[in-house]
Amino acid sequence: MESRVLFSSQFNFPVNSPLKTRETSFAPFTPSRNVLSFSFTSPADRCSMRPLVKAASSAPQIVAEVDGSREEPRRRKKLAVFVSGGGSNFRKIHEGCSDGSVNGDVVLLVTNKKDCGGAEYARSNGIPVLVFPKAKREPSDGLSPSELVDVLRKYGVDFVLLAGYLKLIPVELVQAFPKRILNIHPALLPAFGGKGLYGIKVHKAVIESGARYSGPTIHFVDEEYDTGRILAQSAVRVIANDTPEELAKRVLHEEHKLYVEVVGAICEERIKWREDGVPLIQNKQNPDEYY
Ligand code: GRF
Repeated sequence: MESRVLFSSQFNFPVNSPLKTRETSFAPFTPSRNVLSFSFTSPADRCSMRPLVKAASSAPQIVAEVDGSREEPRRRKKLAVFVSGGGSNFRKIHEGCSDGSVNGDVVLLVTNKKDCGGAEYARSNGIPVLVFPKAKREPSDGLSPSELVDVLRKYGVDFVLLAGYLKLIPVELVQAFPKRILNIHPALLPAFGGKGLYGIKVHKAVIESGARYSGPTIHFVDEEYDTGRILAQSAVRVIANDTPEELAKRVLHEEHKLYVEVVGAICEERIKWREDGVPLIQNKQNPDEYY
């Protein structure tokens, strides 16, 4: 199935902008063949770590701020993954940490379902499992929001990755890890998201809408469901006679690729924030390009 990358927004740059678009049409997803990318036009721009001087236009500029510690750029990042179910995305990220695609390690697994497949996988790979939030029936098992934040800090967690975690993230955690919590959603946000839209319901809604494309979205997490800034998307074609299960399977296949790619980028500090708040990924092969 054809798969193409979409971007968090569409941009128009004037001819005198210090940033220019390289391509403007959709292209297969590889870091070197991105749909829409931007490049600095002068060596001076390339060296500057200050926000770029705004051109005579309202086009948004990329702020040369690197998200993450600048002190030890090669340090392996510590990841906490949150799951509620089978944890196939978690497994792919864990495999990416082992095979060198991700310069990081999963140091904690957090779940609201201590016997789910993701938790079992963590235990069998020596990854500590935390229960959050406290279960009504067994409150002694779980952590409070402040206890959760304390444990994540104690483990030195750099990034929190939600991978099929169905509970709302508490505001304490969002505030403790600004720009450091990601979620994956199995449709192209901002459509088909929000409270109650999860799992197979998402794919049913996509098919019923008549949308011709779906696909995963990875976004930063804020205090609401599925509303944080979009970081990456990958498009999957919806086939005329698709069942929700068939569509879910093809989307999940793309999720696995996209999440590992994006986690690789955050662990290499390749996320940059445009001045209007849109996060972009810096191309690994060509650091002057963003997608
Ligand atoms: C994925 O479809 C993800 O997009 C959604 O929950 C599902 C988790 O699947 N948030 P898995 O547990 O990673 O297999």
